[in-house]
Amino acid sequence: MFRLNQQAFDQAWSLQALFSALESGYDLIVCEKDGLLVGYLLSVRVLDEIQIMQIAVATLCRRQGLAAAMSHYLLQHTDHLEQVTLEVRASNHAARALYARLGFEEVGLRKKYYAPDEAGFSEDALLMSKHMV
Ligand SMILES: CC(C)(COP(=O)(O)OP(=O)(O)OC[C@H]1O[C@@H](n2cnc3c(N)ncnc32)[C@H](O)[C@@H]1OP(=O)(O)O)[C@@H](O)C(=O)NCCC(=O)NCCS
Repeated sequence: MFRLNQQAFDQAWSLQALFSALESGYDLIVCEKDGLLVGYLLSVRVLDEIQIMQIAVATLCRRQGLAAAMSHYLLQHTDHLEQVTLEVRASNHAARALYARLGFEEVGLRKKYYAPDEAGFSEDALLMSKHMV
């Protein structure tokens, strides 16, 4: 999971951050192929709301419906769910297309939300939401 996290994100989570998330009760859905982890979805539930924290699919396994399948699994196997939210980088067109396809709507903008890159540029986050009821 740590390796896939490093591969998929420019600003990946540290091993410690991933451990802490899992220890504190975040939910993890994984996809395996031939015994190898090729995708995961990390989310956290607070009352009747879920926040998707990370979704990642190995480069060679993309555009095969894995991210959509993990997302559908999460939405269909959670009881009493009212809303699902997430933040996504404004430049992440693949993820924005995925979430739009899943029925998420853009509901807000967090200016300069992400930590600055090497050039000092802090990217905006789009806040997306899907109502389940
Ligand atoms: C975003 C990501 C998780 C998508 O995973 P995936 O398994 O390739 O997505 P799916 O195959 O389930 O795609 C479902 C739909 O999303 C949209 N989509 C996914 N990737 C896309 C891309 N690169 N360009 C345009 N649309 C895309 C399409 O509508 C796609 O349906 P289609 O293939 O029938 O056209 C993957 O590209 C990834 O791991 N990216 C790096 C990590 C990341 O940015 N995560 C999201 C932020 S937390």
